[in-house]
Amino acid sequence: MMDYMDQKAIAALVGEKVRNSVLKRKPLILAANWKMNKTERETRQYLQTLNGYDFSTRNKVILFPPSPYLYLFRENANPCVQYGTQNLHFAEKGAFTGEISPAMAKDFGCGYSILGHSERRDLFHESDELIGKKVAACLTYGIRPVLCIGEHLEERKSGRCREVLYSQLEKCLANVDSSDAAKLLIAYEPVWAIGTGESASPEQIEETHGEIRQKLISLFGFGAGSGIPILYGGSAGPDNIAATALCENVSGFLIGSAALDIQKFVKMMDLVNEKK
Ligand code: PGA
Repeated sequence: MMDYMDQKAIAALVGEKVRNSVLKRKPLILAANWKMNKTERETRQYLQTLNGYDFSTRNKVILFPPSPYLYLFRENANPCVQYGTQNLHFAEKGAFTGEISPAMAKDFGCGYSILGHSERRDLFHESDELIGKKVAACLTYGIRPVLCIGEHLEERKSGRCREVLYSQLEKCLANVDSSDAAKLLIAYEPVWAIGTGESASPEQIEETHGEIRQKLISLFGFGAGSGIPILYGGSAGPDNIAATALCENVSGFLIGSAALDIQKFVKMMDLVNEKK
């Protein structure tokens, strides 16, 4: 395992050295989960700044705004900005008041959907089985699922982290064929790190992403399982993503509060952007 420096110190040094070593290894995905935040005006302002960014050709930026603003992305977003929904229903249509179908998301040009976020699991009681149906439905409609998994603090403290994550993966991916595995993205988001300002450490992330990788390989075989991107989420921000990006099996980030501020998001893009 690498000898990690203090994350803030690395971020300070980041500049060229860390950045280039990250970039030589792999392209990264920066995904922004806005949750239930921003007005239409704020969304327009954010997009205006984002659209002017000098995007890297290797790294990917995916935004997850509230669904009422998806039309702004379809109409105004820079083609380098991909986007999607924060949740979807599994049915094509029907009597499901308040829900949005994958077909509707597709109409708005969505390429992705977050599924199984811990807020959906904990506040809206979504089960792994339900999330599994959503994963399958998204794949049918050509929407790439960003499947969130993560353990609660007691589960980590009692040594059950791997068991919890493996069970989530098995159930949520039960309906996915190996031939579709390349369309999946996994976001490892420890519940105790979400919105707390306390990110998991690079050591914890490296170990856990390694375990997730093993499970994906056992589910889908080496070829398919080793190619699935695994994002880290949970208080990821400009102070810590450079160090975390160096971890084996970290393919990018799912960022909540830090991504709401366009200046911080731009700073994070700068950290992982290749030089032109
Ligand atoms: P956070 O949220 O970055 O604010 O911790 C991440 C998430 O919930 O996806």
